[in-house]
Amino acid sequence: MRLLPQKKFPSPIERLEGSLFPNVGVDVWVKRDDLINPDVSGNKWRKLKYNIEALSPKAHVLTLGGPYSNHVRAVAAAGKYCGFETSALIRGELVEPLNSVLAFAAAQGMKLLPVSREDYRNRHDAEWLEAMRKETGATDVWPEGGSNALAVKGCKEILAEVEQHFDAVCVPVGTGGTLAGLIASGRQNTSVVGVSVLKGGEFLIDDVRRLLADAGEVELSRWSIELDYHCGGYAKSTGELHAWMVDFSMRSGVPLEPVYSGKLFYAVYDMIAKRKFSAGSRVLIVHTGGVY
Ligand SMILES: Cc1ncc(COP(=O)(O)O)c(C=O)c1O
Repeated sequence: MRLLPQKKFPSPIERLEGSLFPNVGVDVWVKRDDLINPDVSGNKWRKLKYNIEALSPKAHVLTLGGPYSNHVRAVAAAGKYCGFETSALIRGELVEPLNSVLAFAAAQGMKLLPVSREDYRNRHDAEWLEAMRKETGATDVWPEGGSNALAVKGCKEILAEVEQHFDAVCVPVGTGGTLAGLIASGRQNTSVVGVSVLKGGEFLIDDVRRLLADAGEVELSRWSIELDYHCGGYAKSTGELHAWMVDFSMRSGVPLEPVYSGKLFYAVYDMIAKRKFSAGSRVLIVHTGGVY
C-alpha cells in the first residue's frame, strides 16, 4: 500500500498566547496540520491519503489547478514520494521561467499541460474531464483542490485526533472539502466556521452540501461560512492583512501565508474582537498549511 510520509503525526495542538487576541476571555488553540509534511502539508495530506490508497499499481493521476495551486504542487510531491505518474492541466499559459510552484511540480516529474481559461471553465464537467483523461493517458482524475468523497473521509480524521472540547472550529474554505470533513466529524455542541478565501463564495454552501452527500455523510455539527474575509478575492491581499500577518507570525511563531491561513487567522482575530464568540469559549483554528 502506498503511504504518504509524515514528519509530525498526529499533528500537535498548541494553545496560542492570550495576548495575541483581543482580551475578551476566548481561549484559542491551533491544530498544526501544517507540520505533517513539508511538501504535502496540512489539508493536502488529509485529502490525498485515501485517494492515494485507492490507486492501482500503475496509476497515472491527472489533476488540475491554477498556476499557484498548492494542490497541484502537493500531488506532484505525492507522486514522487509514492511512485505514481502525475500530470496537471494548468489554467492559462505556462510562462517561462516557471514560477516556484510549477517549477517544483515539474522537478517532481509532473507533466504540466496549459489549458486556456475558456477550456478551464469545463473543470467540473465529467465528460470534458474524461476526454482529458483519455488524451493524457491518465488512469485517474482528481478534481480541482482534490475535493472528493475520499478527501472528505481523510479530513474527518482531523477532529478525531482532538480529545478536548471546542465550542468552535475554524478553517479556510477554497473548494469546501476540508470544511465538509470537519462538519461530518464535529461534535453536536461544536460549531464549524469556514472562512471563504474567495470573493462571492456563497456558492460554497451548496458545494459543501454536495460533497457531504457524495461522501454519504451527514451534518453532525452546526456550520456556517464567513464570506467577508476574502480581502479582494482568491490570492488577493490588502496592506492591512499583510501587516497583521507579519506581526502575528513574529509574535506567535506560527507561519502564515496570505492565500489561506493569513485570511483565516485574521478572521478569527476579527471575530473575537467583534465578540462573535462568547466569553469563556474555546476556539480551535485548523492550520491547513500552504506555501510560505
Ligand atoms: C493551504 C490550504 N488551505 C486550505 C485550502 C482550502 O481547502 P478546501 O479546498 O478543502 O476548501 C486549500 C486548498 O485546497 C489550501 O491549499
